[in-house]
Amino acid sequence: MPVAIITGASKGLGRALAEALAARGWDLVLDARTPEVLKDTAAALEAYGTRVAALPGDVTDPWHRTGLVTEAGRLGGVDLLVSNASALGAEPLVRLAELPLDGLRRALEVNVVAALGLVREALPALRAAPAGAVLTISSDAAAEAYETWGGYGASKAALDQLAAVLGVEEPGLRVWAVDPGDMATDLYAAAVPDDDGPRPAPAGVVPALLRLLEERPASGRYSAPALLEARS
Ligand SMILES: NC(=O)c1ccc[n+]([C@@H]2O[C@H](COP(=O)([O-])OP(=O)(O)OC[C@H]3O[C@@H](n4cnc5c(N)ncnc54)[C@H](OP(=O)(O)O)[C@@H]3O)[C@@H](O)[C@H]2O)c1
Repeated sequence: MPVAIITGASKGLGRALAEALAARGWDLVLDARTPEVLKDTAAALEAYGTRVAALPGDVTDPWHRTGLVTEAGRLGGVDLLVSNASALGAEPLVRLAELPLDGLRRALEVNVVAALGLVREALPALRAAPAGAVLTISSDAAAEAYETWGGYGASKAALDQLAAVLGVEEPGLRVWAVDPGDMATDLYAAAVPDDDGPRPAPAGVVPALLRLLEERPASGRYSAPALLEARS
């Protein structure tokens, strides 16, 4: 069975993708910082009969990242690495004039440095996999200038560029950066607590990600709404 590592998989988009992969027989290595929530998620996914290794930890911890890849090795390797865990830099988001520099550092550390750290750790296994792939979760804030989204958006733009260059440097892999579009999750609520307008559930984005896995288009940046539109 193929093996996926998904960071930030206890809730939101990470959990929704993990559930879809579990239903398709993938074995999973999952992380998140809050052990109880991660444990509940892992228990729910095991009901699909798949193997689930749930490692509580912070993606910025190099030992934790090594642990994720080691667990994947025990399950058979790394076919897919999903960098989904993310930090906003300020909760709620604030304009750049007020953005604490430590918040920006944290966003860069979680969204960029840790993501590359995990890719580097997993690269030998990804290269050895029959169809290795890296999926980085981006945002439209990486490409558009939205007030208050500057620090987070800058970190996602950096992540996009890492993914783009990785795709060129590793032609044997697929490297996809995906903008999922707005979703009703804890991250969005923390970013903009006053904005309680309707937004799609993360499960609605998962078919776009599955499409990449099924069709294996060229490495590059994709938007979930466009992938979903082309599918329907
Ligand atoms: N929601 C949106 O509208 C939206 C729009 C565009 C892009 N995105 C992107 O979509 C992805 C998923 O976000 P979401 O909205 O699904 O968020 P979410 O529901 O808040 O889930 C985030 C997950 O990441 C974990 N996490 C956060 N920081 C972590 C860390 N340092 N180490 C390990 N795990 C960590 C969280 O658990 P713990 O807190 O327990 O660690 C949780 O499992 C993110 O990359 C986000 O930037 C979201």
